[in-house]
Amino acid sequence: MKKSVVAILLLLLLTLSGCGAPRQAQDAAEDEDLIVVGFSQVGAESDWRKANTISMQNALSASNGFRLILDDAQNKQERQITAIRNFINQGVDYIVLAPTTERGWDTVLSEAKAAGIPVIIVDRMIEIADTELFTCWIGSDFRKEGDTAVAWMESHLGDAPLRILHLQGNIGSSAQIGRTEGLDAGLAAHENWEMVFRASGDFTQAKGQELVREALSSGADFNVIYSENDNMAYGAIDALKGAGLQPGRDVTIIAFDSSNTALRMILAGEISLDVECNPLHGPRVQAIIEQLEKGGTPPKYTYVEETSFDAGNLTEDIIAGRGY
Ligand code: AHR
Repeated sequence: MKKSVVAILLLLLLTLSGCGAPRQAQDAAEDEDLIVVGFSQVGAESDWRKANTISMQNALSASNGFRLILDDAQNKQERQITAIRNFINQGVDYIVLAPTTERGWDTVLSEAKAAGIPVIIVDRMIEIADTELFTCWIGSDFRKEGDTAVAWMESHLGDAPLRILHLQGNIGSSAQIGRTEGLDAGLAAHENWEMVFRASGDFTQAKGQELVREALSSGADFNVIYSENDNMAYGAIDALKGAGLQPGRDVTIIAFDSSNTALRMILAGEISLDVECNPLHGPRVQAIIEQLEKGGTPPKYTYVEETSFDAGNLTEDIIAGRGY
């Protein structure tokens, strides 16, 4: 009995050692063939951001020929700078950067350039003296998004006085800068538009809620909330409801991103306009890298196509057909 157990164990050991070595070698060889991409992501502050991360993970997968090293910077630029330096030390093939803010990238991108690593910027833009420090950029036209919102306010809210509560995103990010510039242009062009409260909610639901509560308890009198993303709008809606106000009837809500939850809130009459910001950059970045691998030159700047939704054009089919 004992002998047979030993024999079985020996057999198992032989099988494992016999097959294990070539298997590991095969895995390593397969790994060698993968394109290594270091992705410095802003954080996980919003549903948009989470959808963006998933899109990158799905596209830059091992089955597509990539090894993705993802770093979540928790909304801190200094963490992104450290992550990029780590990617350089690891000798990745490409660096993808979704920047927290526009400024402050010159030094670290010079280091990537010196190491010969191409840098692809996604989502937000960077402001940099030498644009040769990055290979290309793909993302949204945030100023156009702000202008779209203002044009809708002009055509749908009539000549009535607008008292606006403005929830800004991360100060210094392109998404905040462009959407704020759009609203500021609208304010300058309309005497009957007034800014009654403006603060940054950092694109998070919790801060959106906190700021609207604060505005209400300070007695701010507003009839429009211009929220620079969906999550802050969700927080704002919770705060309004908590104060016995009805979003969509007592206060018009304008938001950005157009995630599925927000689109459902349009159908429910709570959000009046949502300007789209498309997070599905994974396949776009994949296509850029594949083009570079073949020796091609992708366009330096690519703006993705975006639209906007209100009760006039939104349908269940549109919501069902969207990936986020
Ligand atoms: O840069 C895109 C913005 O960042 C999205 O509007 C927002 O939801 C995200 O956090």
